[in-house]
Amino acid sequence: MKLRYILITPFLLFGCSWLPPEDEFIDVDSLHTISNFPIGSAVRFVPFKDDPALQRLQKHHFDSYTAGNDMKMNSIMPEEGVYDFSLIDAILAYTQETDQRLFGHNLIWHSSTPSWVKEKAQKDPEWLSDFMKRYIYTYVGRYRGAVHGWDVVNEGLRTKGGGYREDSIWYEVLGSRYIEQSFHYAHEADPEAVLFYNDFNTERDLEKFNFMIDMVEDFIKRGVPISGIGFQMHIRMDIPNEVIASTLRRAADTGLQIHLSEVDIIFNHHDDTRGGGVQKLTTLTPKMEQAQAQKYYELALMYQKLIPADQQYGITLWGFNDRDTWIRPFFGIQDWPTIYDERLQPKPALYGFLKGLR
Ligand code: G3I
Repeated sequence: MKLRYILITPFLLFGCSWLPPEDEFIDVDSLHTISNFPIGSAVRFVPFKDDPALQRLQKHHFDSYTAGNDMKMNSIMPEEGVYDFSLIDAILAYTQETDQRLFGHNLIWHSSTPSWVKEKAQKDPEWLSDFMKRYIYTYVGRYRGAVHGWDVVNEGLRTKGGGYREDSIWYEVLGSRYIEQSFHYAHEADPEAVLFYNDFNTERDLEKFNFMIDMVEDFIKRGVPISGIGFQMHIRMDIPNEVIASTLRRAADTGLQIHLSEVDIIFNHHDDTRGGGVQKLTTLTPKMEQAQAQKYYELALMYQKLIPADQQYGITLWGFNDRDTWIRPFFGIQDWPTIYDERLQPKPALYGFLKGLR
């Protein structure tokens, strides 16, 4: 089924054939239909479940679903001893009805570890080790065969440069071995699940990237059941394509699945911390929109050219409209990182991405 949209303003850019014609109406192709690999989006099920317009777009464009927040530890287990899987069951039903792949984000992440876990772990390190095993067994086991792949460990490395993330209760208490142990437990709970290490800035911070690759290759050598690398790919307009390409190429050399797991493309700057945005540009101009379309195009193209087809796990957009993007509340800036605008109208970025996938 194709969706029809009224074009409010014609898009004009000399020589860019992916821009829509200057018709009043256009048919928007479905991203996943024209793509050779899954195309995902991360959404928060509440309020998504009560938003028919967003659902219409989500069903049209995507065949992979990542929960923006609902599958994190602090959503499932806000209190000790109580697993709340109700939202995930509803998400699973939605993905099954709409024939989408459900991707699990995530199992172990310092930032979504509930405070009660941190408090207990500090008093009793052995408890944490045992809890991690039980949590992964229970959770992955429950959705065995239903959740296709998992971000087993998210952001286990330092924000900048090489090294493990030290401001993590998991590292603090269990040392770096918690990472490989998580992979073992997840694999034991679902031997068919595709298991990822997922992190950010690895496409641009070469020290961080190299540390990750060394860790991953060591896992492969020692038989730790890792099956993929997730590049979050929260990029900025001025991150050079050459640098992104060099990391993708090198990651593909591992032979693992490669997932661009949280794509968005911002114009402004930030320091990677909450509230750390730097508002350099305050208005989205047509020229900026065209440049962003070009960047989405190039990213889609790079992924296809550099990642062998059997390693293409897919490209997932982290929120696909500027109304719901995490960038604005998190960094405290105005930005326009996605393919649909605040009114859920398509942006040139959508056409750039479509063209790149085609
Ligand atoms: O739902 C409550 C709302 O009731 C309350 O009024 C409001 C006040 O702050 O908070 C709302 O919850 C927020 C939630 O997002 C929903 O918007 C949380 O405070 C906020 O911490 C949470 O942030 C999420 C963040 O992960 C932490 O879990 C972002 O939405 C989500 O986009 C972000 O996603 C991460 C990936 O998991 C990992 N990679 C980076 C990515 C972006 O930070």
